[in-house]
Amino acid sequence: MTMEPYAENDIIDILNSDDLRVLQELLQSAAKCRLENIGDKVYLRGLIEFSNYCDRNCFYCGLRKGNRQLERYRLSKEEIVQTAMLAFNSGYHSICLQSGEIDSPLEIDFLVEVVEEIKELSQKADKDSKGLGITLSVGELSYQQYKRLWEAGAHRYLLRIETSVPQLFGRIHPPSQKFETRVECLRALKDIGYQTGTGVMIGLPGQTAEHLLQDLKFFQAEDVDMLGMGPYIPHRSAPLSKLSPEQQLDPYTTTLKMLALCRLLMPDINMVASTALQSINPQGLRMGLKAGANIVMPVLTPDDMRGNYYLYENKLYKKPQELVEEINSCGYTLGLWEWGDPLHYKRRIKVKVGDA
Ligand code: 5AD
Ligand code: SF4
Repeated sequence: MTMEPYAENDIIDILNSDDLRVLQELLQSAAKCRLENIGDKVYLRGLIEFSNYCDRNCFYCGLRKGNRQLERYRLSKEEIVQTAMLAFNSGYHSICLQSGEIDSPLEIDFLVEVVEEIKELSQKADKDSKGLGITLSVGELSYQQYKRLWEAGAHRYLLRIETSVPQLFGRIHPPSQKFETRVECLRALKDIGYQTGTGVMIGLPGQTAEHLLQDLKFFQAEDVDMLGMGPYIPHRSAPLSKLSPEQQLDPYTTTLKMLALCRLLMPDINMVASTALQSINPQGLRMGLKAGANIVMPVLTPDDMRGNYYLYENKLYKKPQELVEEINSCGYTLGLWEWGDPLHYKRRIKVKVGDA
């Protein structure tokens, strides 16, 4: 597999380097690559965290089922649809519906209805548009369930692999959560036709540069369209926070390096400047964009619920307008009134059709 423009050893050295010049040079190359390949546009995805119930027990996450201190909420269909339409009317043409892992058929039925209603209303509201682009991020489901949601009108899906190294995956998840299942889910999503996104956490206890190199290879091998990567930030109610790492890569600078490397290795994908990156450093958004990110996801979850979507400590909240101003002040162009599909997906689909 080609890791051009870098040899695998170079990537390991870059990830392990403390030299600020190495980081600067890498960021500059990524910024150039981004402008040449996808231009200066930044697309917004309005994030609606519609429920914080979760049936899983990931060792790092504040929403884990075992966290009894968390007040749980679920938005009603009307609340979700209303928030989505507000987003649409303000120029966001893509939203992301996210929750803890959904597991019951009733919850799937609910989500199918929500997606159908949002599609119908947004297409009616602007007959010249394709309506709202809907991304889902609700965890591991069956092929049939993914298919139903696709048929209802969702067209993108985010499912982070968290780490592509099975042993490390096993250390941060209970045994019931299987690495292989997650890979199968990603393949099912692509097979159905979704624009498919994955990603990893960076700076996990015990995670090394070699592990991150494997992540880069995984993204390439799975030919993903979108990436969401962020620093690991401990949460006091999650057991992984009790583990004191022997060695740990600096989560902030290593995330910037991974973003830049991904942009260089996969120039035409969509990549998010994550909230976790913004939460860990006040320069996170600016630097994330500089490293090659072209997506920002302003949180649109209603005020009274938002505080309970508490994945990690000190999760940042910035008003959408503040984010927009910051993006503009960094010199990027906002891609409003359009879906902003990854160029990679368009090319991938063309190849598929061409092959047939
Ligand atoms: N630090 C950083 N990211 C986290 N996530 C969950 N817990 C944490 C944490 N402690 C991320 C995971 C998950 C997404 C919804 O949030 O990558 O896929
Ligand atoms: Fe649930 Fe996702 Fe958190 Fe795991 S990472 S506990 S599946 S919300």
